[in-house]
Amino acid sequence: MPREKEIYDTRCHDTGSESCPCFLADAGQCIACPVLRGEQDCDACAWGGVCVYDSYSRGDQAHTRRYIRAPIKSEKSTAAGLHCVTVHTPRHWSAELRQPGSFLMVKPPGSEETWACPMAVFSVASSGELSTIVYRERGPKTQQLARHLKTWEVAGPYRSGLLGVRRLNRAVDCDALILTSGTGQSLLPNILRRLNDNNCSVQIALDPGMDGAAYVVQALPEFAGSLSLIRLDAEIAGCRHQSTAGIISSSSAPLVISLGSDHLHIKVGAALQRDRLWVASNNRIMVCAAGWCGACTVIRRDGSELRGCRADIAPEDVFWSGDWKGERDSR
Ligand code: FES
Repeated sequence: MPREKEIYDTRCHDTGSESCPCFLADAGQCIACPVLRGEQDCDACAWGGVCVYDSYSRGDQAHTRRYIRAPIKSEKSTAAGLHCVTVHTPRHWSAELRQPGSFLMVKPPGSEETWACPMAVFSVASSGELSTIVYRERGPKTQQLARHLKTWEVAGPYRSGLLGVRRLNRAVDCDALILTSGTGQSLLPNILRRLNDNNCSVQIALDPGMDGAAYVVQALPEFAGSLSLIRLDAEIAGCRHQSTAGIISSSSAPLVISLGSDHLHIKVGAALQRDRLWVASNNRIMVCAAGWCGACTVIRRDGSELRGCRADIAPEDVFWSGDWKGERDSR
């Protein structure tokens, strides 16, 4: 693992996939191709696969992810508004849905796309045909989902659920520290499987959130390392608590992963030394998840804009401003 500050080259999660080129190419905003963005040459392109400009020039039609009906197999909910829903999904999605950071867009049947929510995939059954999602009911969108418990409509798989995901995928034979809170824990199983495969040792600090639901614990794959249930930065009677900064400074793991709200990410970012690699859950608001609505726009330090639903960017490219207070998720 590199110990110096890494420059994370921005890419598009969908480059070279069946969803490429997309209408960001028409708009002159292709994330991958400098020429399609109006630049003179393609020296800045680090992509080694099929040329996006060539595909676009030939008029290749990108496949747009479409919503399909997903009958619900089972549903469990708690009084605190936490829902665990298992839906039927196509078997050929399963390999992708087991990747770290994979998610589905989910909406009530027959509703407009503006009702869609991104939902992390918690687990995929061994048959490959059932995916489980855990979400908390917060605002109108999640309330509507909770009222439709026979069938949902889902689109996917999408790949942009983690900022800096290539750091995670490249981590081999190293230590990793994971701080997670609330429903951020839904991302843990796929991440742990990848770290296990790559022979990494993992220390997990899990804050179950205000209702104390550490639901992921039952579903974690075996892993080398430790798991502690704590309250991050909160003093609650009867609970062990610790500061985010304290946990980070007491660990020497070169890879730090934060899975939770933007508020958690801001604290992690403030405590991290520049020589440690950071991966974070992507909490951008998403509506289309395809690059056209602009809801997920990230403004970088240099003023340039990127679509957070497609761009593979590092957390420090999102949480760079001391004024940024984070987005509150009330969908
Ligand atoms: S969610 Fe619409 S552009 Fe990213």
